[in-house]
Amino acid sequence: MTSITLNNGVSIPQIGYGVFQIPPDDAQRMTVAALAAGYRHIDTAAGYQNEEGVGRGVRDSGLPREDVFVTTKLWNADQGYDNALRAFEASRSRLALDYIDLYLIHFPVPQRRLYAETWRALEKLYADGMVRAIGVSNFKFPYLDRLLATADVVPAVHQIEVHPTYQQAELEALTRSHGIEIEAYSPLGRGADLESETITDIATRLDVTAAQVIIKWHLQRGRIVLPKSASVARLAVNLDTDGFELTEADLTAIETLEQGLRTGEDIETFDVPA
Ligand code: A2P
Repeated sequence: MTSITLNNGVSIPQIGYGVFQIPPDDAQRMTVAALAAGYRHIDTAAGYQNEEGVGRGVRDSGLPREDVFVTTKLWNADQGYDNALRAFEASRSRLALDYIDLYLIHFPVPQRRLYAETWRALEKLYADGMVRAIGVSNFKFPYLDRLLATADVVPAVHQIEVHPTYQQAELEALTRSHGIEIEAYSPLGRGADLESETITDIATRLDVTAAQVIIKWHLQRGRIVLPKSASVARLAVNLDTDGFELTEADLTAIETLEQGLRTGEDIETFDVPA
């Protein structure tokens, strides 16, 4: 599988398996299945409440630890320097892993004004070798700029919602201008974008599925992509993207599908702890 080299030299598999909404009891089985299907990158979060199952799945897979790239994320209630250090340790012990590959601030929670301080905690975890890379998620304008103004370590990735009907092109350009890689979550628009005629026409022409077309669009545009599926068969299909290429005309046709259709949370109002 193709990998991308992050701004600190760490290599990350370009397709990851996102386990948002995978129930805790299924996380172990699905993680094992994804790794058996060929995934080498699993994306979880404290907020998904399935870290234990993911950790068990990574261990049960029989793969060497260094062959699997594991991301988790700091939950909103745990922002602040000391809280973040404690929350990291709690995530690490739920996953039961010695180190985490990538640790992200899940949401900026701008109302609390704690994300710069929280970032210092992530910088310490990185300096101490507890994590191989650190990054942010959902830091739309102006939060990414504000973070960069005080950060010593430039985030390695920015994980945001990106799919054909919600591309966040300006945020992607701003992010990349700082050498930060984009990780696309809800890359299929939670399944809704698979219905687009533009996508299905390309899929028919290339004799692949609509999901493969959208995933290939992300890959060819240089994003790390985190498709989800509760089906082991579809997980395997989503990884099978090597045997075809989209033309530049296909890529730009997909880019005309932008409609501002956000499916995820509005970060301005989302779950701000008291
Ligand atoms: P399912 O879990 O039944 O496979 P996103 O990654 O953008 O959040 O999209 C996830 C949605 O897309 C889920 O509803 C998932 O359904 C569906 N999905 C994922 N992969 C495929 C695929 N290869 N074919 C059809 N639907 C898919």
